[in-house]
Amino acid sequence: MSLLNDLTGAPPGLTGRALLSRLAAIGAVLAGAAGTFAYAGGWLSPGALTPARVVDRFEEVNGPHPGFRRNHAKGLCVVGSFAASGAGARLSRAGVFADGRVTPVEGRVALAGGQPYAADAGTTVRSLALRFRLPDGEEWRTGMNDIPVFPVRTPEALTEQLLAARPDPATGQPDPGRLHAFFAAHPESAAAAALIKARAITSGFADSTYWSLNAFRFVASDGRATPVRFAYLPDRPAAPEHGAPEAGADKNFLFDDLAAALRRDTLRWHLVVTLGWPGDPTDDATKPWPADRETVDAGTLTLTGAAPEAAGNCRDINFDPLVLPDGIAPSDDPLLSARSAAYSQSFTRRAGEEKSPSAVTGTPHHGAAL
Ligand code: HEM
Repeated sequence: MSLLNDLTGAPPGLTGRALLSRLAAIGAVLAGAAGTFAYAGGWLSPGALTPARVVDRFEEVNGPHPGFRRNHAKGLCVVGSFAASGAGARLSRAGVFADGRVTPVEGRVALAGGQPYAADAGTTVRSLALRFRLPDGEEWRTGMNDIPVFPVRTPEALTEQLLAARPDPATGQPDPGRLHAFFAAHPESAAAAALIKARAITSGFADSTYWSLNAFRFVASDGRATPVRFAYLPDRPAAPEHGAPEAGADKNFLFDDLAAALRRDTLRWHLVVTLGWPGDPTDDATKPWPADRETVDAGTLTLTGAAPEAAGNCRDINFDPLVLPDGIAPSDDPLLSARSAAYSQSFTRRAGEEKSPSAVTGTPHHGAAL
């Protein structure tokens, strides 16, 4: 596959006019995202937040790790497919929801944070990112986390939180004074942090629920738009977290457990779409929606295999949440355009850097030094 195909996500056979129109479409999405972000962040004012400054902040708190994602740096590639139930088709005209449609999926499971060699820990936020390739060349890219709400409402708050939560090298813990000041300035984050802390942590990637957190709009064939949030709910019953691994244990146990489970069998999740009512917050990912909202089971994601990150697989995908097919549209959540612009910045930096192998191979190395 050519570099151009890698960058655009275009299938290898897509050349000439088709590829140019794809590039134009992606360019329009990215330009739109960057424009919204500039507006939201006051890009034109000196000292204001820009995508580069957001990514600089990740590098500042995590140190330099060339070639890796600036957040969710430790990950493993997965593959599978999505089988639509047909129930989502009344909400969205995206082909991925058409009754009986099976769409190939490439994805990546990861742990939040910018440290590619950190030891796995049960409490670290887990993520699942997916790229659906629709038959007409459209794509749906999405990234989800195993927490019920996001800790911040705006990109500005995210960069403040990164500094406030940065561990002090002397103690290995964040400075309590700085954290306190951050939560005092952001009561919405204090409320979200309490919900995140109270979540039930499961044994691993295979029995985790992954939430979109951001709201989107599903657009039906007649143009009717419905605000939605969605989640992937595991078929596998949730088992409790194992607790802290013993000294000398496999430092990649969460990833290696998932790879081992996928060597034995396939794993399934249901895509459950929650329908928002007028007044449910679509621009604030720190706030849950009321629990009684109608849900629709739009289909089943089946993962069939895992592979370490390598050239041309999920390592080189930008899971930009604004790459959406017709029938799925962004909401007014300010995080969406900020994410799109920051992921593009992180992708551009890492794409131009020399690569080191991922710590995650999918095979346990007990006691291996990292
Ligand atoms: C302003 C808010 C946010 C910023 C600045 C941010 C930043 C980043 C960056 C820089 C990356 C690495 C991208 C790459 O190099 O490919 C990343 C990855 C990721 N983020 Fe965010 N993020 C934000 C909010 C969120 C939210 C709300 C979610 C909700 C689910 C999320 C989920 C993810 C996931 C799943 C990945 C890993 C994708 C992969 O495996 O490639 N992020 N984030």
